[in-house]
Amino acid sequence: MEYAKNILETIGNTPLVKINKLVEDLPCLVLAKYETFNPGNSVKDRMALKMIEDAEADGRLKPGGTIIEGTSGNTGMGLALAAIVKGYKCIFVISDKQSKEKMDILRAVGAEVVVCPTDVEPDDPRSYYSVSKRLGEETPNSWYVNQYDNPSNAKAHYESTGPEIWKQTDGKITHFVVGVGTGGTVSGVGKYLKEQNPNIKVWGIDTYGSVFKKYHETGEFDEKEIYPYVTEGIGEDILPENVDFSIIDGFTKVTDKDAAVYTQLLAKKEGMFLGNSAGAAIKGLLQLKDQFTKDDVVVVLFHDHGSRYVGKMFNDDWMREMGYLD
Ligand SMILES: Cc1ncc(COP(=O)(O)O)c(C=O)c1O
Repeated sequence: MEYAKNILETIGNTPLVKINKLVEDLPCLVLAKYETFNPGNSVKDRMALKMIEDAEADGRLKPGGTIIEGTSGNTGMGLALAAIVKGYKCIFVISDKQSKEKMDILRAVGAEVVVCPTDVEPDDPRSYYSVSKRLGEETPNSWYVNQYDNPSNAKAHYESTGPEIWKQTDGKITHFVVGVGTGGTVSGVGKYLKEQNPNIKVWGIDTYGSVFKKYHETGEFDEKEIYPYVTEGIGEDILPENVDFSIIDGFTKVTDKDAAVYTQLLAKKEGMFLGNSAGAAIKGLLQLKDQFTKDDVVVVLFHDHGSRYVGKMFNDDWMREMGYLD
């Protein structure tokens, strides 16, 4: 018989899938690392499990403990699945711009969800960074995960996602394109790939309203770059320790409208029902057209599933209200 001993054993080993119609104008092969095949439907299952295992190993997380995190949903799902199997409680702090589906899904897997306002400074006591930190300090036998600065986040991708992509492309990958939030995915995968072949180019996808691109290009943390945006999962108003800027060759920014429209196009043209950051990633990849030549093998990583966006990017009333549909 062939079976996994529990749901956590099904994390990883996701497929690589060719993108066809949307990249017809590009000269190269474009492959999607399709992370929704993970049991929590996102790439974040990988780092959630790794962060828990590393915290168990060095005693930060003790039996029966409570896991506390500020999460936009996907990391929470990964943490909740591992917590169920391993016997921990979860409290997640989420900002109010996140889709209602994400909050409902976290509650469905047993987590307590605390909702905080988006439009406040990161050091405001109401911000989701501050609230999650405070809950971590106040709750007995708790562990504050901090996916932004927790090195196990990038390590998970260095140990699993990166090696999988290298093996699946038979070492032929030339470019890796991925949305950047905490930076765990880009830094871990990028480090592994560049160690195998330093010529591989790593591109980060950023949003308007985020500090990454300008910081990478100038070294300046420019607060004027920061304003509220709609795209979910990528871009930041802080510099997480997990973003290793030295691994990233460049950033391209994608507008909220383009990210939303391309989220729909992935579903309609490729049969790929994916989240909002996948729309941003494929549009960003198309913006990078001039970087690619005939023999290149470009891998783009798609983080999460479309089901979490049915009230937004997959709802034409919402799309029209936002001015995203002509
Ligand atoms: C939907 C989605 N896309 C992209 C990202 C960015 O990935 P990373 O945090 O590894 O940079 C996240 C992270 O929260 C996410 O939830």
